[in-house]
Amino acid sequence: MLVSMRFLATMLLVLMPLCAQDTPPEQRKGGGGGPPKNLKVLTPEQLQAGIMQQFRLALGVQCNYCHVRGDNASDDNPKKIVARSMITMAHDINAKFPVAEGKVYVTCFTCHRGKATPETVAPAPPPAGGPQPQ
Ligand code: HEC
Ligand code: HEC
Repeated sequence: MLVSMRFLATMLLVLMPLCAQDTPPEQRKGGGGGPPKNLKVLTPEQLQAGIMQQFRLALGVQCNYCHVRGDNASDDNPKKIVARSMITMAHDINAKFPVAEGKVYVTCFTCHRGKATPETVAPAPPPAGGPQPQ
């Protein structure tokens, strides 16, 4: 009896860390876990490769700028709809880019440069005698 109790206790100690283990990182990156449910333009591989972090950095925003908090599959945030059409647009630009084929020239960052709304007009030149652009 004593032996089997000790055996049980040992088994508990061995098994407990397994049960306490956090969600595996691949699932956590999916946000909410499990495979993506609502991809219309990206592939699951692009998602896995960290494209969402790229979006975040390119626009200088947090995930919930485009996503309904806690539900990345939802399309209820209008920014996500805009972002989806921007993914298609960037893809089309690269496909039609006039130089070498197959290379990615235009990404979100090419235009956005860390801002949600990119600047479309160059800044005014510095006043005469001021610092010159490099
Ligand atoms: C600039 C907007 C934008 C930002 C910022 C962004 N996402 Fe997304 N995300 C999208 C779009 C658009 C899709 C849908 C792509 C498609 O339809 O193929 C998507 C899809 C997803 C999906 C797939 C959901 C499903 O089940 O279909 C996950 C998971 C996800 N994003 C996580 C994140 C995380 C985590 C972050 C922050 C690191 C993030 N996103 C930041 C625009 C964004
Ligand atoms: C060719 C330039 C260009 C590229 C490439 C581009 N964008 Fe944009 N994006 C813009 C411009 C310009 C605006 C602002 C439109 C406006 O003023 O309404 C914008 C607006 C947005 C908005 C809405 C921001 C707001 O203030 O409501 C989102 C979200 C967005 N882009 C996501 C993306 C993502 C994600 C990518 C990469 C897949 C991307 N964009 C690539 C030019 C670009």
